[in-house]
Amino acid sequence: MFGLFARKGPFTARVSPSGESIPVKAGDNLLKAALDAGLAWPHNCRVGSCGQCRSRLVSGKIKPLSDFSYVLDGADLDDGMILACQACLRSDVEIEVELDQPPVALSAAKTVSGCIAGSRQLTHDILELRVRLDEPLPHYLAGQYADISVPGVVDQPRSYSFACAPENEAAGHVSFHIRHVPNGRMTGWLHGGNRDGQKVTVSGPYGSFWLRESPAPMLCIAGGSGMAPIKALLEQVSSQGFRRKVTYIFGARTRDDLYCLDEMGAIENRGNGQFHFLPVLSREPESSGWDGLRGRCTEILSLDRFADIRDSHAYLCGPPAMIDSAVQCLTGAGLSEKNIFYDKFLDASHLSAGRA
Ligand SMILES: Cc1cc2nc3c(=O)[nH]c(=O)nc-3n(C[C@H](O)[C@H](O)[C@H](O)COP(=O)(O)OP(=O)(O)OC[C@H]3O[C@@H](n4cnc5c(N)ncnc54)[C@H](O)[C@@H]3O)c2cc1C
Ligand code: FES
Repeated sequence: MFGLFARKGPFTARVSPSGESIPVKAGDNLLKAALDAGLAWPHNCRVGSCGQCRSRLVSGKIKPLSDFSYVLDGADLDDGMILACQACLRSDVEIEVELDQPPVALSAAKTVSGCIAGSRQLTHDILELRVRLDEPLPHYLAGQYADISVPGVVDQPRSYSFACAPENEAAGHVSFHIRHVPNGRMTGWLHGGNRDGQKVTVSGPYGSFWLRESPAPMLCIAGGSGMAPIKALLEQVSSQGFRRKVTYIFGARTRDDLYCLDEMGAIENRGNGQFHFLPVLSREPESSGWDGLRGRCTEILSLDRFADIRDSHAYLCGPPAMIDSAVQCLTGAGLSEKNIFYDKFLDASHLSAGRA
């Protein structure tokens, strides 16, 4: 009898070493409860793919929403590690996690309605989407992202990074860079015609990818629409007066995949020689006249110009494979993992590969 009526919440999660206690409503996962309470719990995908919300269950019972072993290894599991975004509580718990230290108090996410105010093609497969909001979203930090859904068209939300620092965004609007994913439902629809006026919902802000205050040189690496959050971060560094050296490597296949060159030029002009933008092309024909860098963006990291990698902070954004290879390269060059910050643009194919 007792088992049939086991309590499903609300419960309390005690967080160590920071000492907070947060209420967790029945049906909410631990990460959602933590973010609703304004805690800077590290996270990226919120769907059990990236592993960034990993934390240690010290005591109490949880119900896993997916199999942690696709993301956590045997040693992690033996050590009691769980994924907060995939854990509902079955009792009060104590959880150990190193919370982030954001520059300002984080705003809890909110869902607001809006409509597509316009879009423009940035490359053959990336468009800028502008959304007019019916009411403001809570304040976001450059680098964070929102979830977008299109009621009746694509109801399941997709995540997109804010493409402008908040101070550079038009009042009442938010904008995103959206790459067309072959056979993708949301991007197929957005790229498939003029969608101006379409009702959307936007939830956010989410994510732990924001600027860590430091005088350390910054090394940014992005590919494809990974440009969006890096551009937002650069706008923030620029508005702070470039108090640090910044190098930005943008990886693309050919010149047709390069974009935001004017924006990068403008930031370079304001950068007092502190900002260097380095586009690098992996598949540009030899005969094209391109006299810039060639190869994969990780290949040029070994050049002499990156003598200060070890002392840098790295900000990476884009396809998961690019990020994995950059992290390997950077740690191999002596950069500590704690100074590497990244946002992986995971999609349904990564989720399903992890869970197959
Ligand atoms: C934190 C975060 C931030 C992001 N920011 C951006 C951004 O700023 N810009 C951007 O362009 N993208 C971003 N993304 C990616 C974005 O959220 C979407 O995943 C992407 O746009 C694809 O959406 P879609 O609906 O078009 O594709 P989906 O319909 O979700 O499909 C994606 C791919 O998975 C395949 N697929 C679908 N279902 C399955 C299945 N069951 N098994 C195997 N394969 C499957 C599809 O064929 C397709 O190739 C971000 C992702 C994350 C996690
Ligand atoms: S945020 Fe939990 S696995 Fe990505």
